[in-house]
Amino acid sequence: MKYHIQTFGCQMNVSDSDWLDRSLKSAGFEKASAEDDAGIFIINTCSVREKPEQKVYSHLGRLKFFLEKNPSAFACVGGCVAQQVGRDFFQRFPYVRLVFGPDGLGMVPGALKRLEQDPALKISLLDFEDYYPEKPGNWPERMPPRAFVNIMQGCDNYCAYCVVPYTRGRQKSRSSREIINECRELIRLGVKEITLLGQNVNSFGRDKNGLEISFARLLRELNSIQGLRRLRFTTSHPKDMSSGVIKAFGELETLCPHLHLPLQSGSDKILKDMGRGYTTQKYLELVDSLRLVRPDITLSTDLIVGFPGESDEDFQLTLEMMNDVGFDSSFSFKYSDRPGVRAALMGPKISEEVKSARLDVLQKLQQEWTAKKLARRVGSSDLVLMDGPSKKQKAGVYSWQGRDGGGRVVNIDFHNREDLTGMILPVRFTRAKKHSLEGEVAS
Ligand code: SAH
Ligand code: SF4
Ligand code: F3S
Repeated sequence: MKYHIQTFGCQMNVSDSDWLDRSLKSAGFEKASAEDDAGIFIINTCSVREKPEQKVYSHLGRLKFFLEKNPSAFACVGGCVAQQVGRDFFQRFPYVRLVFGPDGLGMVPGALKRLEQDPALKISLLDFEDYYPEKPGNWPERMPPRAFVNIMQGCDNYCAYCVVPYTRGRQKSRSSREIINECRELIRLGVKEITLLGQNVNSFGRDKNGLEISFARLLRELNSIQGLRRLRFTTSHPKDMSSGVIKAFGELETLCPHLHLPLQSGSDKILKDMGRGYTTQKYLELVDSLRLVRPDITLSTDLIVGFPGESDEDFQLTLEMMNDVGFDSSFSFKYSDRPGVRAALMGPKISEEVKSARLDVLQKLQQEWTAKKLARRVGSSDLVLMDGPSKKQKAGVYSWQGRDGGGRVVNIDFHNREDLTGMILPVRFTRAKKHSLEGEVAS
């Protein structure tokens, strides 16, 4: 039977799904061209907020249509909701025959073979490992210019609102030797830009029983790999950002001037209740020291509105903080209760109307900042790594899409039909759009 993978959630899940896709192919499974061509439906799920969790149930409900047409077809639920809900999926959806958590991913290809052989079998892979579960890369012969490399699993921070420590388990750093080898291999396969992934990359190596090098040292080691052109990482926790990492932004040639640094709230009271471990003052100092070593650094962030007890004044402080920092972009969310997290028991809860109104105000302010920041780029030049043809093509030209050092999307029109994938070109920015730039190759 052919497989189909549907992915919800963060870059970790995207990276896990990419691994599964490659590994199923190399284990002899065939990928379905579309859902109605598939017999094995794999859903990689996210539990971070209520909305993505609900999407999983509606997606599973929708699959019933395909599963009724093909009695041997079945569904598999992986990722964070699978870890949280576990074997209850078997009761709620009889056509689910495999549930697997983030640490069970490596065993999925083998489990699918057994499920195909024995139609009565159901399998759950929900155990947490106390070490980083290494898996074979199963890389194809050629890779796209940008790739993710996982450097850790799990999180030990237990922010009051967050389910991740429960769904991904304790922090487990991957061995730096394995990371360096994987990066070398990817570069050999055509990768130019690597994004290191982890829930809190700044605490890399500082596991409960870990003895790895520091994150700053890891960045230095990777920077010296021949052929690597660009290095990025996500996500950083402000409380764990070391002076070594800040220095790296000023010194390492490959380290891109871009940092995603989740602020969550601009109110010190709310930050304390969230258990974030920093104050707005500390955050602003961090931003200053980053801008001192790398004045062109782009900053993006995550913000939550409507955390329990958030007053109008607290929310105003978040807006003020956005103005103090001037983020290039941000992801903003309405707080939602998650099962088992501390904030679920905190009050008073903020009404849906107030949350929506606050989100609206916040997003409008962000739009203004994003527009301002993009407009400032017009007239300047930077190197752009070309990803591939743009989604929108105009008549008479060939449009290509890439990213500048700060991670902004850049579209460029060419007159020749030439494959530019993976090229790094000097580009002058000519126009700012809502979320992207337009440019032309600078001579
Ligand atoms: N490890 C990362 C991101 C984790 S989840 C970090 O520490 O920054 C991504 C984002 O989802 C968080 O930064 C937060 O803004 C948001 N988020 C997490 N739990 C949430 C909840 N219960 N309600 C609303 N937003 C939430
Ligand atoms: Fe969640 Fe906090 Fe860990 Fe990020 S650092 S994954 S927000 S607990
Ligand atoms: Fe979601 Fe799990 Fe990522 S909860 S955000 S998929 S770590």
